[in-house]
Amino acid sequence: MKNNLVKKSIKYVIKDNVVSVAVLVVIIIGIVITSLLPPQILRKIIDQNLVPRNGVGLLSLAVSYLGILMFIGIFDFLKEAILTILGQKITKEIRMEMMEKLEKINAIFFSYNGSGTVVSRFTNDVDAISSLFTSGIVSMIVDSFKIIGILGSIWFFSVRLGIITLILLPIIFIIIRIFQRHMLEAQIKNRVLVGKVNNHISESLKNIQMIKSFSKESYMEDSYKMYLIDNYRTMEKVNFYDSIFSPIIMIIRALIIAAVVILSSNQFGYLGISVGMVAASIELISNLLGPIQDLGMELQSIQGAISGIYRVNEFYNEPEDEYKNSELSAESIISNRKEVRISFNDISFYYEEERHILQNINLEFQPQEKVTFVGRTGVGKSTLFKLILGLLKPTNGSIKINEVDVYSIPNTEKRKIFGYVDQSFHTIKGTIADQVSLQDKSITREQIEDAIDFVGLSDYILSLENGYDTKMDNNLFSQGQKQLLAIARAIATNPPILLLDEITANLDAITEEKIISILQKVSDTRTILSISHRLLSMISCDTVVILENGRVKNSGSPELLLENDEWYRSHIELEKLTWR
Ligand SMILES: Nc1ncnc2c1ncn2[C@@H]1O[C@H](COP(=O)(O)OP(=O)(O)OP(=O)(O)O)[C@@H](O)[C@H]1O
Ligand SMILES: [Mg+2]
Repeated sequence: MKNNLVKKSIKYVIKDNVVSVAVLVVIIIGIVITSLLPPQILRKIIDQNLVPRNGVGLLSLAVSYLGILMFIGIFDFLKEAILTILGQKITKEIRMEMMEKLEKINAIFFSYNGSGTVVSRFTNDVDAISSLFTSGIVSMIVDSFKIIGILGSIWFFSVRLGIITLILLPIIFIIIRIFQRHMLEAQIKNRVLVGKVNNHISESLKNIQMIKSFSKESYMEDSYKMYLIDNYRTMEKVNFYDSIFSPIIMIIRALIIAAVVILSSNQFGYLGISVGMVAASIELISNLLGPIQDLGMELQSIQGAISGIYRVNEFYNEPEDEYKNSELSAESIISNRKEVRISFNDISFYYEEERHILQNINLEFQPQEKVTFVGRTGVGKSTLFKLILGLLKPTNGSIKINEVDVYSIPNTEKRKIFGYVDQSFHTIKGTIADQVSLQDKSITREQIEDAIDFVGLSDYILSLENGYDTKMDNNLFSQGQKQLLAIARAIATNPPILLLDEITANLDAITEEKIISILQKVSDTRTILSISHRLLSMISCDTVVILENGRVKNSGSPELLLENDEWYRSHIELEKLTWR
């Protein structure tokens, strides 16, 4: 992979926290060494004090035994604390870089990747990477050293016991691993089902009106019941493995202790070790089970982290919006708003290869020209607007404003050039005023109020308790009112070019006429490109562009088209026949 974000972030955080990392290394060495000492002290206590019934030095040994146990606890705590802090710093670093990337990424990426996929890159995948630090690689190193140390100590007491432990080690590991795998499988299944159960409720609530109007209540109830039963079954499995796991570990431990005691008993004398060594060996072998259990889980999180790293790096290497000329300013592109020339030079575009949306579009508009695009649903009108806005890159050709390629215009300048009204209104968190300004500090309160007044929403908004400062709520505005708010948002900066995608679709006839007439009044200083489904209700325009099968079928003044275009004439006739 070209750019390895994870490696870069880790390196950065380590460089920035050299002291913490050095302390961590010392602590890890401390943990490995100190965890081997208590069994040795225990052996001394038994062999030198308890068996010969000799009290000399017993107290100091007992105190050091306790002291070392305390040190192990403190070291463990420090290790966990430093690892968690470093892990958090690394995840913060990765997430910040990803956010930066998200803003630069090519818009086409979002055509292929739903929001769920992108969100999971930020949450699940980065969390998986963070577990690499908190419960992954470092803990695995510590545990591996602990196991080696314990094996060494046992070997030192008795080579035979060492060999037996070495043989037992993989067997115990495999048994524990099998149980852990089953446990994890059941847990994952259960988590998925819990998600489904919860989702079902929120989905039902969201679609409650649709469910009722299509009388789908029993269907929803049945599927909920099914999810609940499945969930219950997986929950039972999880509980079963949870309850059986600890007893199994205890049985393994008891069996090993019994084996060590029997093998070192006087009758067998196979191991040839003292009572103290027997006690120490039992403690060592018991200590072995913890790291073996952890090792399994650590392997698991390392596996998860590796696929997380892969996916995060893959995201980080997604192609970016190539060329944005940061020196371009709105003023340098459009120095005089009466001189805006837009040209389409052999534009072709597809979202997916082999499926052309737009093909070989050549158009040239005069300053302040009013252009309406018409064409069947799905012909690519909104796509064409996104190309004009430089949100998408044409697969071929270019769109230019005063000889400047729109794709090279930096995003920061776009609002000063374009006012865009989308087919759907997207709200943001904040007040009603924020919906218009989009929290752009350069837009004054006066501009916001003027824009709202312009679309005729001020009376309604002022009737609300907090007026323009009312907190935005989706239910505060109807579809049509949202459409008006969208227009206010577009015109707030008084941009020289307006792109209006179906602005009248949700408006009643009176509001529609009002909006159109107001727009017409201000249109002498603007270039207006609009999309309209209904030819009769479009803003009076100089040029109509008819799109068909991704190409320009015909273009010209409405009067001209009425004369020479069969499609246009028949549509106008058809609309006259219908009720509106
Ligand atoms: N993000 C996307 N990813 C893939 N395909 C897309 C995407 N957006 C639109 N399309 C496809 O491009 C084609 C043109 O869509 P577009 O929204 O431009 O049509 P339209 O002319 O605006 O239609 P309408 O009149 O219904 O608004 C459609 O077939 C649509 O499926
Ligand atoms: Mg559209």
